[in-house]
Amino acid sequence: MLEIWKGKQILQLKDKDIEQWFDVLNNGLVEDRGFNINDSNIEEIKSNIRKDYIEYLMSCSMDENLQAYYIFRDEYNVIVAVCRIVFDEGEYYLEGLETHRNYYRKGFATQLLLEVLLELKRNNILKVYSIVRNHNPKSLNFHKKHGFTIVMEDNTNTKFSLNVENKIRKELFDRWAKDYNKSVLKSEKEGSYPFAGYSEVKYSIIDIISDAKKAKVLEMGVGTGEITKPLYDLGYEITGVDLSNKMIEIAKIHMEKAAFILADFSNGLNEISNKFDFIVFSYSIHHLSYNDQIELLIKLNDYLNEDGVIIIGDVSTFTIEDMNQLQNKYADIWDDEEYYPILKKYQLSRLTDFYKLSYVQINEVAGVYKFRKK
Ligand SMILES: C[S@@+](CC[C@H](N)C(=O)[O-])C[C@H]1O[C@@H](n2cnc3c(N)ncnc32)[C@H](O)[C@@H]1O
Repeated sequence: MLEIWKGKQILQLKDKDIEQWFDVLNNGLVEDRGFNINDSNIEEIKSNIRKDYIEYLMSCSMDENLQAYYIFRDEYNVIVAVCRIVFDEGEYYLEGLETHRNYYRKGFATQLLLEVLLELKRNNILKVYSIVRNHNPKSLNFHKKHGFTIVMEDNTNTKFSLNVENKIRKELFDRWAKDYNKSVLKSEKEGSYPFAGYSEVKYSIIDIISDAKKAKVLEMGVGTGEITKPLYDLGYEITGVDLSNKMIEIAKIHMEKAAFILADFSNGLNEISNKFDFIVFSYSIHHLSYNDQIELLIKLNDYLNEDGVIIIGDVSTFTIEDMNQLQNKYADIWDDEEYYPILKKYQLSRLTDFYKLSYVQINEVAGVYKFRKK
């Protein structure tokens, strides 16, 4: 359970909470400060350290650069992990992420990180940095494991950054991976948003590609490989990009020799040097804003062979008004964080300078686009 300490509220914290907070951080502090545990005045040293920490915490109540102190409690209400987010020169930094020494390896730091990221997203903070000392392998590993990317490295420190939305999305898809195919099927059977017509979308994509006898296919957001597996079995050369390792693990079972890139769409492209005959987005491009969709589709022009085609299958409508109607119809289950393709939006964008567009509305919910390279 996440608790947020900030501003004047910090001055009113109960002694018990302050003690528990200090107890999380009180791990090797005596040694860190160069004292010996056998010093005759060790109790006085410990007491001074504790005083310093509490003074620091109280000073946080007035620190305008402190976004908040984040406190994670276990089911027994004990503080087991803490961290803070600090604003510095236009950037937000994750600092002081610590787990209580008696609670290591229970995933509390991970849970705290995710809760903090959700909170940052609510506050529209979409990128977070973290600076780690190079002599702290545990923390370096934690950052790497959680998808932080290195932005700067010197002899003393490594600076990381994390895209907040992508990390949250990755966690959601990792959790969903095992049941993904089942829930798509269920939604399709109900003939309901979001997956009504999924199979028709799938086979439309496969039909377009299998018109070519041989082809190199890139699927962006490959998921469990539901779309590309039949093509793989027919001998097409498949590359899949996805930010969820759990999704890729499943796709790999079905497509052993396919190439997979574990990354978000833009970082994934940095790892690709070849060109493709087809680039597919099946129910995946809607995770980007409309502007980002258009930018990415234009960038992908460089990754297409001559006459190459981008295929998008997704929840889709002809016009914005149609999309609004769909949203009203499915208001109870509508996902406000997804930006479904709309033909009119694409037609009115710069995309037409790069591609010849065609579109088929599959049913009330779904549609399939073809963008042929000009
Ligand atoms: C709804 S699933 C679709 C999977 C598959 N294409 C299909 O049609 O069944 C969306 C997939 O896109 C991936 N994804 C979402 N946003 C992404 C991003 N920004 N970069 C890379 N992959 C992303 C998710 O991890 C997930 O596997």
